[in-house]
Amino acid sequence: MAEAPKNKPIKRHKAIQPLSREHHQGLLLCWKIGKGFEKDIAPERMKTYLEWFWENHLKLHFEIEEKYVFPVLGEDHKLVKQALEEHEHLKYLFQAKEDLAENLKMIRRDLEAHIRFEERVLFNEIQQKASEEDFQKLLEHHDQEISCGLWHDEFWI
Ligand SMILES: [Fe+2]
Ligand SMILES: [Fe+2]
Repeated sequence: MAEAPKNKPIKRHKAIQPLSREHHQGLLLCWKIGKGFEKDIAPERMKTYLEWFWENHLKLHFEIEEKYVFPVLGEDHKLVKQALEEHEHLKYLFQAKEDLAENLKMIRRDLEAHIRFEERVLFNEIQQKASEEDFQKLLEHHDQEISCGLWHDEFWI
């Protein structure tokens, strides 16, 4: 279960800002799924977009967090354990091909919860514990937001 996120995000260190902007893209994705349901868009059509978003954006975002952000606290830290479990779960959901309508609803709910958890809880903790070296290492590998380009089928409009 996700922790109740009571905390507000604190001002982000420059090194974490690209990841926070990617979180905004993720929340937008959840909003687009909601729009798709409102507009009665076929789940297959939405899923095609989600698969593209996973391959071109989210997969890399997870990899960067796992390589350069979570190690600040270490894999035994309870917040990191939670984040890693959520990554596994989301990875599975994005790749699943059955029960698409249910799958899309779960992605919408669980991706949003994961992003809120990182922004309000985990990243605050990371930022407080990270050394200047940790931030530098992250910047070296990720100084710009992942750009995933434009998708041709904007079903949410
Ligand atoms: Fe994450
Ligand atoms: Fe994230």
